[in-house]
Amino acid sequence: MTATDTLPQAPATTRTIFDFDAVLRTYEAVSWALPETPAWSYPLLNAEAGVEVVVKHENIQPTGAFKVRGGVALMAALSPEERRRGVVTASTGNHAQSLAWAGARSEVPVTVVVPVGAPARKVAAVRALGARVVVEGETMCESLAHAEALSLAEGMRMVSPGDEPAIVLGHATVYLELFRRHPGLRAVYAPVGSGSGAAGACLVRDVLAPECRVIGVQSSAAPAAHRAWTSGEPTTVHSRTRVAGLAVGASFALTQSVLGRSLNDFILVDDDAIQRAVGLMSTHAHTLAEGAGAASLAGLMADPARQGPCAIVCTGGNADDHELAGISATDTTVGTDATLNC
Ligand SMILES: Cc1ncc(COP(=O)(O)O)c(C=O)c1O
Repeated sequence: MTATDTLPQAPATTRTIFDFDAVLRTYEAVSWALPETPAWSYPLLNAEAGVEVVVKHENIQPTGAFKVRGGVALMAALSPEERRRGVVTASTGNHAQSLAWAGARSEVPVTVVVPVGAPARKVAAVRALGARVVVEGETMCESLAHAEALSLAEGMRMVSPGDEPAIVLGHATVYLELFRRHPGLRAVYAPVGSGSGAAGACLVRDVLAPECRVIGVQSSAAPAAHRAWTSGEPTTVHSRTRVAGLAVGASFALTQSVLGRSLNDFILVDDDAIQRAVGLMSTHAHTLAEGAGAASLAGLMADPARQGPCAIVCTGGNADDHELAGISATDTTVGTDATLNC
């Protein structure tokens, strides 16, 4: 018996109904592969924020990020023919590792196109998970175009990092677990790149916690989704952010269709604020977060209207070298009493 034989089937992507029931069906596949992640509070972080903050820990996923849920959901939604032919995408980050992990587990061949100059450690992680890596393109846009060409030439299923219903449904399962465990939340802060996680949060909140506000948080150095949400128009921007998981240059129609009707607020934070939040996660929540994984905390700290209990999602722990170095440079000092150290 193989993983492919036994994996519960989510609704096929081509006929996906994009609603809460679809999230529940998707969770059958996701929870079969991935145990529920913890969500709890830290007294020091609560004191710093001035409100009770629940931290949902997606940084402990097998790939170090919540995106693995989307990969599992996508594999479960493929037709037998799509499984046989395999999937192709372009990414250097958590989306790539997600598909590689889930593909290996479901025996679906995965090809990932990465741009020339992609960080060697990230490329190695994708290869180590069993995916074929093709190095092509000077920019992520060129790599995506090459992935599309490979999809046509080799018959593989192209997987968009943003406009992919199964992936949004997979990411929604973060919030299914969160709202079931913590029914009284007043606000949830969700980091936004393509918006798939925040859109998933909205789908679940609308049914399980209609009183809870969902607040998106994006880097002000890559504000495509924020601009699209504000203007109602598709948007492209030149991304200048150092935060890898949030370095997205365009809005995505699928996620905007949900965010436009359901997201309550959208906060922009600069990269320095995100780096300070990486430091706070380490000193006040015992957690190594990457920048994107600490962005929701940066949004919370920037929100003058914050109220508790609220939640942030530490979406990933795959910190880049500059983020690791930045932790020791961040001043997150709280008073210490040397006599209490033992
Ligand atoms: C750790 C992490 N957090 C947040 C995001 C943003 O998620 P989304 O693209 O679903 O908005 C990403 C995207 O790759 C990520 O890797």
